[in-house]
Amino acid sequence: MPQRILVIHGPNLNLLGKREPEIYGHQTLDDINRSLQAIAEEHGITLDVFQSNHEGDIVDFIGGNMGSADGIVINPAAYTHTSVAIRDALTMTGLPVIEVHLSNVYQREVFRHHSYISPIATGIIAGLGVHSYTLALEGLLRIIRDV
Ligand code: DQA
Repeated sequence: MPQRILVIHGPNLNLLGKREPEIYGHQTLDDINRSLQAIAEEHGITLDVFQSNHEGDIVDFIGGNMGSADGIVINPAAYTHTSVAIRDALTMTGLPVIEVHLSNVYQREVFRHHSYISPIATGIIAGLGVHSYTLALEGLLRIIRDV
């Protein structure tokens, strides 16, 4: 069975490309998913990609798919700073989790400096735009494969 990674995009990330491009860049979510898919193919793994603007749907997706997954890449977007429910769902999985942010949240408003997810994440990558995602996936694969 190929290894399976959950890739989760939180609220408003469906509008990447149009949304504050000076902060989030010009690439769309489809562009990002294509870049991740290319890495997945290179490494012979399967990606299960999910985007939602709804906290409960993200919680359901994590709980419903944890049994078949080997790790999680998640950009919780605004829920990073508010969601105990997503943190608890991620903790429950027992899987390695990489928290991703396109922007450097520490250069931005103070409310973005606190993350409910970081204390339970295996690693965090922020501020590298689309590369935050690709590096997160590559890093996660190294951790899972212990290389
Ligand atoms: C974000 C940063 C969050 O603070 C923000 O709410 C987002 C995107 C990022 O990728 O930089 O929606 O997670």
